[in-house]
Amino acid sequence: MSKNKILVPLDKKSYEVFIESGLLDDIGNQLINLGIKNTRKILIISNKEIADLFGKRILDSLSKNNYSARIFLINPGEAFKNVNTLNQIYDAAYEYGLERGSLMIALGGGIVGDVTGFAAATWLRGIDFIQIPTTLLSMVDSSVGGKTGVNHPKGKNLIGAFHQPKAVYIDPNTLETLPVREFRAGMAEIIKYGIIKDFELFEFLENKENQKQIIDLNNKSLIKIIKKSVETKSDIVAMDEKENGIRAILNYGHSFGHVIENLCGYGEFLHGEAISVGMRIAGDIASDIGLWSKEEALRQNELIKNYGLPIKIPNLKKESIMKILMGDKKVKDGRMRFVLPKKIGEVEIFNNIEEKDFINYFN
Ligand code: GLY
Repeated sequence: MSKNKILVPLDKKSYEVFIESGLLDDIGNQLINLGIKNTRKILIISNKEIADLFGKRILDSLSKNNYSARIFLINPGEAFKNVNTLNQIYDAAYEYGLERGSLMIALGGGIVGDVTGFAAATWLRGIDFIQIPTTLLSMVDSSVGGKTGVNHPKGKNLIGAFHQPKAVYIDPNTLETLPVREFRAGMAEIIKYGIIKDFELFEFLENKENQKQIIDLNNKSLIKIIKKSVETKSDIVAMDEKENGIRAILNYGHSFGHVIENLCGYGEFLHGEAISVGMRIAGDIASDIGLWSKEEALRQNELIKNYGLPIKIPNLKKESIMKILMGDKKVKDGRMRFVLPKKIGEVEIFNNIEEKDFINYFN
């Protein structure tokens, strides 16, 4: 099993991302292969919807390998990605008697992954955890790279830690039950990898036959695009684990994406939808200041649209936009930092973009 594995090479903390259909029913074996002793207690964190779909299969596979495991459910949605939910996980960890040698498993999308990762990073000053992402977005982005955390009332992901998982298990079969809108939102992150670093992936995504296969959840096509995305993510994280430099290119489209999520209310735009609009805005800035051509910007926008994602800039007030941009983690020494494309497959981080370069896109 698991022909498709990608190493995330990090000093002392290297781990592998496994991509294979059927992995979910083989988790017990996989953990044995990983060297996780079955005397270690496991707390799986998930939400009801995901646990109803996959929880029993995972528990069965673990118990076949003599692991003792329990599932703890958290409320779904961005509104619950907060310290209250974290406290509930700590209570469950205490009650279950999770020790230093115990393990947490995140089973679900990005929110479950981020919260579980942060609970694991902080429980008893840090215990091991495993990521089992079940949404396309978490498969290609949030499950890999060790960013964990929760939101603060003043902003998204303001409380967090870098804590790398011991392994990531991606079973593309879980996408069969993923709502179409969420699947499309995950495609936004995959398109992002094409723009920032992988021209070949971009061209693959553009091909009409491939588009059909992807939307139809053809296994081979899905594994290909997930694998290529994870490879790029792994390369970038290996170069700059703590985001002191190059890792910021993964935030392409995210500055304005966060503004949109924030001002329109989390929920109206899914994360992937907001960053689709964010990529459109970054693309417009880049063509307006002469970094890449109008044609390249249009080509990007066409691809975003082809996967059913939005590019229309919502009606937002200039003052509110600036307030959020200035409060973003991406502001360095009071200056806004933007990732902008130079061509399809290459972006650069710019610290010298001014309000006048984009403010007229808004009301
Ligand atoms: N999602 C961006 C990163 O992991 O750095």
